[in-house]
Amino acid sequence: MTRKEAKKEIDDLVRDIGRHDRLYHGGDAPEIDDAAYDALRRRLEDLEARFPDLLRDDSPSRRVGAAPAGGFATVAHGVPMLSLGNAFDEADVADFLARVRRFLGLGDDEEVEVVAEPKVDGLAVSLRYERGRFVRAATRGDGHTGEDITANVATLDEVPQCLKGEAIPDLIELRGEVYLCREDFLQLNRDRVAQDERPFANPRNAAAGSLRQLDVSVTRSRPLRLFIYAWGEASTLPAATHSGMLEAIAGWGLPVAPDVRVARGLDDVLAFHRRIGDRRAELPFDIDGVVYKVDRLDWQSRLGFVSRAPRWALAHKFPAEKATTVLRDIQIQVGRTGSLTPVAVLDPVNVGGVVVERATLHNEEEIRRKDVRIGDTVTIQRAGDVIPQVLGPVPAGRPDDALPFVFPETCPVCGSQAVRDTNARTGQVDVVRRCTGGLRCTAQIVERLRHFVSRQAFDIEGLGDRQIAQFREKGWISSPVDIFDLEEKVGNALADEEGWGETSSRNLYAAIADRRTIAFDRFINALGVRHVGETTARLLARHWSEPATMRQALDSASGLEDLQDIDSIGPAVVDSLVAFFSDAGNRAVLDGLLERLTIEPVARVADYSPVAGKSVVFTGSLKTMTRQEAKARAEALGARVAGSVSAKTDIVVAGEAAGSKLKRARELSLAVMTEEEWLALAGQA
Ligand code: IVH
Repeated sequence: MTRKEAKKEIDDLVRDIGRHDRLYHGGDAPEIDDAAYDALRRRLEDLEARFPDLLRDDSPSRRVGAAPAGGFATVAHGVPMLSLGNAFDEADVADFLARVRRFLGLGDDEEVEVVAEPKVDGLAVSLRYERGRFVRAATRGDGHTGEDITANVATLDEVPQCLKGEAIPDLIELRGEVYLCREDFLQLNRDRVAQDERPFANPRNAAAGSLRQLDVSVTRSRPLRLFIYAWGEASTLPAATHSGMLEAIAGWGLPVAPDVRVARGLDDVLAFHRRIGDRRAELPFDIDGVVYKVDRLDWQSRLGFVSRAPRWALAHKFPAEKATTVLRDIQIQVGRTGSLTPVAVLDPVNVGGVVVERATLHNEEEIRRKDVRIGDTVTIQRAGDVIPQVLGPVPAGRPDDALPFVFPETCPVCGSQAVRDTNARTGQVDVVRRCTGGLRCTAQIVERLRHFVSRQAFDIEGLGDRQIAQFREKGWISSPVDIFDLEEKVGNALADEEGWGETSSRNLYAAIADRRTIAFDRFINALGVRHVGETTARLLARHWSEPATMRQALDSASGLEDLQDIDSIGPAVVDSLVAFFSDAGNRAVLDGLLERLTIEPVARVADYSPVAGKSVVFTGSLKTMTRQEAKARAEALGARVAGSVSAKTDIVVAGEAAGSKLKRARELSLAVMTEEEWLALAGQA
């Protein structure tokens, strides 16, 4: 790409992103979805990294860290606002019910009652009532922190200032969805068009845009509605079942969804889904699926959560929306781990209310398997919030001169060989082609640094994509270690750089100094090992407790293999850790960071727990819980659950008919206890 071409593309991107920002924040009628918007931002940042002198003063990449809509205070959620696991077909639902039964260890004669509710497509909110009075409302945000929209929510007709009736807890946070009825949405758009304003793309955007308004009178003028379907913090609960809770909530004067049904067993659940799916168009609001929730609350709390979604609930989606359009180009993106991802550039097309211009083609095998060629008319699909995908070409829509796509064998950013590795365990060739440039590839360096400073990792304020590009260009930063030497190396000279001054450089140094102490799990996540995201990093941190143990594991032959004993850590993670740490460059980064930082042992779920940090093996058959539940509970209390007994085992819990593991435990003189003793120790009896 020439400098001239880059300049043209940067100019176009700055203009387009600016327009999309205005649509999103001002009018709330975005034309492209988040993934397509992110792709534009990344493309711009890539170009700016490659041609730093073309960075414009008004580039959106300079506006790092601005509050999304500006002006709303933030609210921390005491109980996080979670999302839901998805099911797309009946087999997924059958798996869900089987998983629940297995986890709870239910006998064949015991039925699981499941509440089925429509899944309304709007904006999740949390309403806090103290002594029955409405005191605060917040958006979901990232699940942990949302925006304070109390004044906006107070304008909704359906939100009572005071709860009425019986058994009102001293404190309860009610959670639900703010939405617009289809008719109201269409009328709102007609009004907007009449006033020369851009219509909203779909009811969800309209609801979100109407609620998140700094000018409350705008919210008041919109006919927003609400369904309550869950709760967060609560001083007491008036019922022992989800359906009972919904009844109580309705009794307090809040709206709950109609068509809620308690179903028994798979057939009943699926029949409800089919019935409501058939009646979808008759409902006054858009729904995108049905949510199933285990009715008994004691079972819900036993089932608990995995990652960000409850084990006791599932969203059964209706089939995805599809459309056809022309594939204009295939671009290759290089990710943090060097993966080359083909991205389809499309003629803009409306898919179920959202305009799509880019879609993923996954990898070269997919392109070959589907025989997708530039110039083809293709079918694309948008399934919920997932990035749109290209399903395949429409046979009749191929121009005569369309040639099969030739996937590059070199990295489009650094020119290094791009290869498909063979997995040593399985002998299989990886579908993903990766740039071998490692830390010599600008794209990988930038993506890694970007990940390192990101919100869920080091979260360094004032060090965003633009600054990373600038510092890289200056030769100040090429690895995460350099971030912590920046002040020593650059000092006051930073203040003289373009875009900086005394205050901002001082603030940046302070922000970096602030992160010299960091929690162990964040640290592991920040390293950017393939397959090790937030959740796995937390498991690893809990397993190793502190960097010294991690270092030992890396240095011993079996240290990493042992990780497979941890629930949810499989061979892919282990292989990836081995590959990452066998690279001298990565080890140097790790050591450099450990020299400069103070790593806090990870805060355990239950530091008070007498079993925290203990290595536990369950053997024999347990009476009060299944093996899976025993393991999940023990891990929630900070214990590590292993599959086999060794000298490192602290406790062996022997159920009935325990065999060889119990024998081995006796030989090693380990602590052996019964299920009851274990429950008493773990405070669960
Ligand atoms: S329950 C812990 N119930 O869907 C359970 N969510 O995809 C949390 N939603 O964030 C959610 N209708 O915004 C639940 N009947 C329903 C729902 C519902 C719509 C939304 C909600 C949630 C998202 C997850």
